[in-house]
Amino acid sequence: MQQHLLQIIYLLASVSFIIGLKMLSGPKTARQGNFLAAIGMGIAIVATIFLYVNEKGVPLSNQLWIFGGIAIGTVLGTLSAKRVKMTAMPQMVSLFNGMGGACAAAISLVEFGHLHEGSAPGHIFVIVAGLVIGSVSFSGSIIAYAKLQEIMKSTKKLPGHNILTAGLLLGIAGLTTYLCVDHIDASIFYILFVLSMAYGILFVIPIGGADMPVVISLLNSFTGVAAAFGGFLYDNQVMQTGGILVGSAGTFLTVLMCNAMNRSLTNVLFGAFGGSTASSGGGGAKTEMNIRPTNASDVAMIMHYAQKVIIVPGYGLAVAQAQHVIHEMEMLLEKNGVTVKYAIHPVAGRMPGHMNVLLAESNVAYDKLVEMEEINEEFATADVVYVVGANDVVNPAARHDPSSPIYGMPILDVDKAKTVVVSKRSMAAGYAGIENELFGYPNCLMLFGDAKKTLSEVVAELKAM
Ligand code: TAP
Repeated sequence: MQQHLLQIIYLLASVSFIIGLKMLSGPKTARQGNFLAAIGMGIAIVATIFLYVNEKGVPLSNQLWIFGGIAIGTVLGTLSAKRVKMTAMPQMVSLFNGMGGACAAAISLVEFGHLHEGSAPGHIFVIVAGLVIGSVSFSGSIIAYAKLQEIMKSTKKLPGHNILTAGLLLGIAGLTTYLCVDHIDASIFYILFVLSMAYGILFVIPIGGADMPVVISLLNSFTGVAAAFGGFLYDNQVMQTGGILVGSAGTFLTVLMCNAMNRSLTNVLFGAFGGSTASSGGGGAKTEMNIRPTNASDVAMIMHYAQKVIIVPGYGLAVAQAQHVIHEMEMLLEKNGVTVKYAIHPVAGRMPGHMNVLLAESNVAYDKLVEMEEINEEFATADVVYVVGANDVVNPAARHDPSSPIYGMPILDVDKAKTVVVSKRSMAAGYAGIENELFGYPNCLMLFGDAKKTLSEVVAELKAM
């Protein structure tokens, strides 16, 4: 009876994960979706602690340790989630993901000790695969965290890096096969653990800091797969469902991010791209541009008399924490009869949905956020486009310059508007490290300065009109 109840709870928890994941796909329902899946996970954990019995009918007897662990994890998780800055979210996701990988590897480390001569190769494989994938995910995520947190700077490949990683992979595959054909050898198992950790480190070390979101998403899918192996090991359906959902969602997200940047996964993992702030032309040469600097007063004036203004937020908006001021500007313009919309590029910022989350923080209405495909047709009818802290996602070179590293990346066609105002601190490049020809276009005005400071000045001017 108790076991049947546990199975029903697992089923309900799995359903909550699936519905929660579906709800995450829209900003209106994302918070509830996250909450629903968390509740499902919480119930599944509590039910396991109190209802689980092993094949001999013996229940768990280590509740004190479990609740001690849960208490420590809850305090640390809540505090770090409350304190983290929006711009530091990718490294926090990476750290949490690393913990998931470590859990999967820890399960394997414990369960290997329970193997005996004659254990089924499939059973050994599940333990070994959980160890390898979990360890790679753990060490890789910690390196990703260290790079994003700027604890670790170098992104240079070691001499012979590719040979070393290929050798490590071969070694890992060889030792996995050896263990699975009934060689239960603890020393080989621990060597495999060390090799897998080393592979995770070497895999992430040469990847450019700004490519980390893609890598984190990939490592996230690894953690999901490692957790699913744990589910197979314990014949625990909710662990299997959770792991498979994380594994597949992480893989989809990785592919979607690569598509949105028009880059292959191989290019992200092995290509040298991003991380630089040097300004260089698409083909390498720095080009002469006729820059038109402007000021807050003029920008306020042209927007005050506009009919339609489209705001394009980017990474710099998050850096400046200017989301509240931009909302204030939007409301002032609307009060004056101006139609205001936000154009959201799929990879604006540094993580999926970055701009949506940022603007939701300042209560910008969801229906004002328009996706790239839809808004691109509207730029030609806009009087003013206000680009704030965005760079690569509005670079027209992506449309026509085959020598540009971002050639082929779908962009927001802001240059089609009557006037484009670009708010940024300097002429420095964005994530891709390339010059933006838009800044020299005749309809482009540059509003130099920190986004929050210049927006506050524009807001003050609008209020005074
Ligand atoms: P970027 O191209 O990185 O440009 C951001 C701009 O913001 C910079 O040029 C910078 O110029 C400006 N900025 C920084 N701090 C500022 C501040 N305090 N005030 C005003 N401006 C500030 O950003 P984007 O257009 O959002 O493009 C995102 C890039 O990240 C794309 O290349 C994308 O492929 C990449 N990427 C995104 C993701 C996801 S999932 N979002 C994942 C991986 C990579 P100044 O220094 O002159 O101020």
